[in-house]
Amino acid sequence: MKQVLITVILCATSLVALRIAMPEKEKPQTVIEAIHARRSIRKYKDTRVEKEKLEQVALAGIAAPNAMNRQAWAIRIVGSQEWIKRCTDAFLPTIKGTPMGDHLLTPDFKNMFRNAPAVIFVAAEPTMFAGVDCGILAQNMMLAAHELGLGTCCLGSPVPFMNSKEGAPFLASLGLPEGYALQFAIAIGYADEAPEAKPRDTSKIVFVE
Ligand SMILES: Cc1cc2nc3c(=O)[nH]c(=O)nc-3n(C[C@H](O)[C@H](O)[C@H](O)COP(=O)(O)O)c2cc1C
Repeated sequence: MKQVLITVILCATSLVALRIAMPEKEKPQTVIEAIHARRSIRKYKDTRVEKEKLEQVALAGIAAPNAMNRQAWAIRIVGSQEWIKRCTDAFLPTIKGTPMGDHLLTPDFKNMFRNAPAVIFVAAEPTMFAGVDCGILAQNMMLAAHELGLGTCCLGSPVPFMNSKEGAPFLASLGLPEGYALQFAIAIGYADEAPEAKPRDTSKIVFVE
């Protein structure tokens, strides 16, 4: 028993020593560090995102806390460049000449999913907390992606299009369960930019004594 205890203590000490000895940039980020380092990414490399990584991201998503463990969400992952191009081609005429068009159609525009090579759609069952559950799932996915070296951007802008008659074939192709409503999409890929953190208003946090 004593020997087992000594071995455990020695192993734990070695692990701590190893972590301290690691050069700063090789140290894994803590969850809090990752939360503060994540940014919304809107410029991506053309590099394909590995299916294994997308799967890891989705699995991190569904590990999220959710009301009564109902798992009232659905995730659809699209990595097909052909699908993304067809969807974007159908989307463009609907926004040309609108403020959204002016906002999105920058010279480096590649596609309607903020130029990402892959996109994850998140839909919710029409039950009370499903939207909240999907939000928590989304942050899990974005943090997991961050750890895997991927950038993300949560996108509400594709939703009205996907729910329009022009977007209907694309929504249908996602094969969502009956009655589920698309909440948002998450653009995902290898980042080709490193934006500064956007400021946060700390006055939103109040301790009630
Ligand atoms: C529900 C939701 C919808 C969003 N929709 C869009 C969008 O349509 N287009 C976009 O570029 N960013 C979108 N964003 C990203 C926000 O603009 C971004 O999170 C915010 O500006 C803070 O920046 P940060 O994520 O880099 O901290 C959305 C974020 C959320 C949570």
